[in-house]
Order: sequence, then structure tokens, then C-alpha cells
Amino acid sequence: MKSNSLVIQPFRSAARGLAQVPGSKSITNRALILAALADGETLLTGALFSRDTRILIAALQALGFTVLADESAHTIKVHGLGGKIPQASAKIHVGNAGTAARFLTAFLALAPQGRYELDGDEAMRARPMAGLLTALRDAGCQALKPDGSPATHFPFTLHTTGKLGALKVDASASSQLLSALLMVLPLSNGASVKLDGATVSEPFVDMTVKMCAQFGRPLSKNAEGAWRCSQPGAYKATSTYVIEPDATAASYFIALGAVAGADSRIRLRHYSAEGLQGDTAFAPVAAQCGAVLESAPDALLVKSWRKIGGGDFDFNAFSDTFLTLATLAGLADSPVKICGIGHTRKQETDRVLAMATELTRLGIRVEPTVAQLQADDSLSSLKIYPDREALRQKAAHGPVSIHTYEDHRMAMSFGILGSYDLFGDGRPWISIEDPGCTSKTFPTFFTALAAQKSKFVTITIDGGAASGKSSTSRLLAERQGLLHVDTGLHYRSLTHALLQAGARVDQVSLVESLLQKISLGSQIIGQSSRLTLGGKIPDEAALRTPEVNAAVSQFAALPAVRNCLLHYQRSQVALAQNAGFAGIVMEGRDIGSVVLPQAEVRIFLEASPEARTQRRAAEGQADAVAQRDHLDSTRKMAPLICPPGATRIDNTTLSLNEVVQQISALVHTAAR
Ligand code: CDP
Ligand code: CDP
Repeated sequence: MKSNSLVIQPFRSAARGLAQVPGSKSITNRALILAALADGETLLTGALFSRDTRILIAALQALGFTVLADESAHTIKVHGLGGKIPQASAKIHVGNAGTAARFLTAFLALAPQGRYELDGDEAMRARPMAGLLTALRDAGCQALKPDGSPATHFPFTLHTTGKLGALKVDASASSQLLSALLMVLPLSNGASVKLDGATVSEPFVDMTVKMCAQFGRPLSKNAEGAWRCSQPGAYKATSTYVIEPDATAASYFIALGAVAGADSRIRLRHYSAEGLQGDTAFAPVAAQCGAVLESAPDALLVKSWRKIGGGDFDFNAFSDTFLTLATLAGLADSPVKICGIGHTRKQETDRVLAMATELTRLGIRVEPTVAQLQADDSLSSLKIYPDREALRQKAAHGPVSIHTYEDHRMAMSFGILGSYDLFGDGRPWISIEDPGCTSKTFPTFFTALAAQKSKFVTITIDGGAASGKSSTSRLLAERQGLLHVDTGLHYRSLTHALLQAGARVDQVSLVESLLQKISLGSQIIGQSSRLTLGGKIPDEAALRTPEVNAAVSQFAALPAVRNCLLHYQRSQVALAQNAGFAGIVMEGRDIGSVVLPQAEVRIFLEASPEARTQRRAAEGQADAVAQRDHLDSTRKMAPLICPPGATRIDNTTLSLNEVVQQISALVHTAAR
């Protein structure tokens, strides 16, 4: 075995939890440009931080934009200036970031009298720019080489006029040349873009057009095939723009459902099969092979596959994901043929040959054979004949070492195959050479894969009013991929409904009969499970009125009310497990003591009475915190107490972040 290699430990049990998939690079960089051209502030969430996105962020900052990046929270706050570029001159280095290079060049053309010096890495200097520079030149924007002659590549100085007009672009070399112009169209009155010839990668052009519409400026194509914006103007800032997870990276977690233990539940947050990325086409192919995928409002849930079925598949339009299926094919119940992948023979490596070589190394028969592929560059498909027995024989004396050819997708797809418990005893059978090559798109891939093995963790947080339960739980849930359940809202919802029905707290039999008619349900919104009454989530503002604040603790003391909620609250654990969360954090007054006394992590939050009253006042809420606490701690049934054995955290002087870090450490220990 090579020294720089990683032995893959098979999954002996189910894969669970939120898949930690990075955001899409293409969407992050488009969103940065659109947000900078919008008329105000936009918060981008789920953003990717990689070399290419950092380059674009730095360039926007150098141009005078306020761009605040928070790498740990995966957010970027962009202050858009409606098409204005603060600096009329700047020096910008785009590294080897294709999107940044193309998008920025067109973006800068919007400056009325700009003079920008642009350069890139050696590799970028060789990459196509001519189509874009020629199109801009026709609009009066000059890209000049250091000697003053017209440039066709980096480096160049861009002399801009701010006008675009009717443009014609040759984007045959890269669809980014067209996308760059499409994004600036709405900012220039009467501008249009027509394609001169064909372009590659239509899905990326579709992504651009869809995103322009998401930012409030739809583009349309006229009868002559020219794109224009019928209502030009600045893009509209959206308070929050959610960046989809990278669809290619997500394909590995869809595939994990085929190889991990029964009852796997992997949650892909913000992933939608109807999303912006062409590689989402992998999901229906996987479903055809046996994947069990369930769409949730803002997530895709991957369950254990029914089977790994074979068949013929054309991966031409989403070829980055062909490797994900090709490795699984070794375990399928019939042969898998993958065609349309000729162009991947000129990518990071000759992917068809690399895949054939490594599958052959594992004892799997492929057609064409490795020798045939070596002899003929034009072969563009692979047929893979599954054979588990052959795999076992090859790995009988230890893990087979897989070459990755500096190709991140080879490393990740064989990492998924190696997660299969081939021998049924957890023995590893695949090791991946140079696992660090995943850093190109997914540096944390193998950690994210291992994280799916974590045990489901139950966390309870109890405490008095305004002790910080909700904010702490929300942030913890976000960071750890947990389902958050605020039981205070349950009591508030019932109190509100009972008050609406005219019940008073002393009318116990009326309360009991009303409760019998109430139908409780749950709806997952983001990381939270919300109680529904008659199928609807009650309006939150109505649950925090002074009337509800005054009555809730009295109703909460009634055994009928508590019994009505106890079973419901306990059922939330199964809900979280079935929905693929890594665990559950439930907060309230009696969660660690009565509702979930067996929880692995139980917390009691405290803060001084002064701090708590001040916190509520700062939120503008009239709330007799001390009075509610008194009622809650002196009632007979399930009073507010620090559950025996719970960890007490006094957060009077601690920040939310500090508290969440303390609890996260306990969660990590419990999840092992
Ligand atoms: O849910 P609970 O009533 O226990 O409290 P909360 O609504 O989470 O928190 C009440 C207020 O305290 C919020 O405005 C929090 O931002 C604030 N807080 C704080 O300042 N420091 C903490 N460590 C926790 C909460
Ligand atoms: O946010 P705050 O801490 O002020 O209150 P909440 O969590 O919304 O809870 C409102 C009320 O519901 C509490 O004062 C308790 O009377 C009741 N409650 C309870 O009895 N048991 C729970 N597990 C949660 C809330």
C-alpha cells in the first residue's frame, strides 16, 4: 500500500444525517456578480469558499464593493450598488478562475469611463477570452495588450464606456463568455446579445438565465435569437439568496444510499431535482437504478436503495457524475452501460480509461477493455459487468489500492464504492491513493463521508424564560445538522387555540373536550419541526401576544394540556430520524426531566434574572419573565427543574457562539 493513501472503512450501519456538501461554485460566482449589480444588500447563504470564489470576492472588494464573507457560516453579505462600480481604475488578478475572469470583464464594461488592468495565471492566459473581448470591442470597450494592440487573451487593460448595445458573441469556446454578457444585459438600456454560432454547455447558460430572473430581471430571446431584458434596470436585492449545494458533489451522497447499511437516511439540504444545475440529472438516473429519493420542501432525502439495477444510460449532459454510477456498477444486479462520455477523456485525466483501469484492477470486466481504450481515443462508452465474487477475490488479502490520477472525482467515487461492506464483517477492501486530490472541489469529502456514520444524538435544553434556549438550539441545529424542536411553541399554540375557542384556564372539562378535537401534526421548515394544528402552522406573531404570554404558563400547568403534548413531543425523535437529521435538539422546561430523560446530552441553561429581563426588553417584548418562571417551577406536573445529571451552563456573560461550542463538544463525544 502507498504511504499517501486512505483506507476506506465500510459502513457497517446506516448512513445518517445532513450531508455536508459544499455550495455550487457556478452559482456562488454568479450570485456574487448579480448581488453586486443589485440595488441593495443581499445575504448569500450556503456559499462555497474556494480559490475561485475568493478571487471574485477579493476583486469586488478591490473595486470598492462592501463584501463581507463569513467562511465558517458559509455566508457572504454583498452590498449591491445597482450597476455602479465605485473604482474607475483597478488592477485585478483573476488567477485561473474562469468564471471570475469572464464575469468580471463583462461586469467592468458597465463602468462609464473605466480603466482596469486585468491579468491571470499562466494557465488563464491561455484560456479563451477572444469571443468576449471582440463582442465588447464592437460596443466601444477596448481590451488592449501592454503594447497597445487589441488583446485576445489575458493580460490586458480594459478601457470601458459603460454602453453595450447590440452584441454578437462567439461563445463556441466556452459558455461563460455568453453568460458573462447575459448577466450585464439588464444594466444597459437597449442592450442585446446574440450568439454567433453554437455554444457548449447549454445547462450553464440556462443557469445564468434562471438566476437573472431570480434576481428580478428576466431575459428573453426574440425571434432572431437575441437575448434582451424587456424591463432593464438594476437587479433586485433579495434579503437572502440560498446557494444550492454542488449537484456533482451531492451525487456521491445519493450513491451512498446504495452501499451504506439498511435504513440509511441522508439529507441533502437545499437540493432540488429541479434546481439550477445540470448535474441534478443524476438523481433521476439513480432513481431508475433503484435509489429511493424523497423530495422535502427544501431538501432531498436519500434512503437506502431498493437495489442497484443495471441498464443503458447517456451521461453526455451531466458527465461529471458518470464516475459515481460507474463505480456502483461493480455491485449492480445486471450490466451498466454508460455512453456519451467521450469528451471526459480530455478532462482532469482520461476518465474513461482511468475508470476502466481501476475497475479492472478490482476484478470487474469492462468493455471496451483497457487495451482497446489505450489504442483508440474515439471510444466513448463503457459497459461494466458487475461481479461481487470477483471483488471479494481481489480484496481477499487486503485492500486494493486505487490510483486516482490527480482526479478528485476518481477519489470520491471509489470512496463511495469502498464504503460498501463487501465482506459483511466491516473489513476494508479499498484504499484511495492521494486522497488529498479532492481539494479541487471538496476538500472535506472524506470527513463528510465519515460524518454520515455518526450516531443519532438526542439533546435536550431546558431553562427559564429568555435563558437563551431557542437561539442556542437554533444555532446548534444549524451547525450540527440537527432537527430543532421548540416545545414552548407547542404550549403557545395550544394556549392560543384554547383562548380562541373561548376556554378559560379554570374550565378544565371544556379544555379537555377541546383538546380531544385538536389534530396535531408536524411540518419541517429548514432545520425546525413546527407543530401544525389542523394541518396549518399557527402564525408566530399570534403566539407571542401579551394575552398568550400571560396565559401560557397557566394552561401549561394543566395535566390535560401536558398529556396531550407528551406523546407528540416524544414522536419528534422518530420524525428526525426518518427525515435524515443527525440528531434532535428539543428545548423547553421538562424535556431532559420528563419528555426525553434518556437523551445523551442534557443541558440546563441559566442566566441572571436581570440579563433575562433585559434580553426580552431588547426584543421589544412585554413579558413577565420572573412570574412565568415562578409558575413553571412551582406547578405539580413536570415543573421546571435542572434535570438530575444535566450539564448546567450559565450564559449571563457568554456569547451564543461560546455556548454552542460547549454543547457541540458534548454532542461530538455522544455521536462517536
Ligand atoms: O428561548 P428562550 O426564551 O430561552 O431564549 P431566547 O429567545 O433564545 O433568547 C432570548 C434573548 O437572549 C435573545 O435575544 C438572544 O439573542 C439573547 N441571548 C444572548 O444574548 N446570549 C446568549 N448566550 C443567549 C441568548
Ligand atoms: O421563550 P420563552 O422561554 O419565554 O417561553 P417558551 O419556551 O415559548 O414557553 C412558553 C411557556 O410554555 C413557558 O413559560 C412554559 O409555561 C410552557 N412550557 C412548558 O411548560 N414546558 C415546556 N417544555 C415548554 C414550555
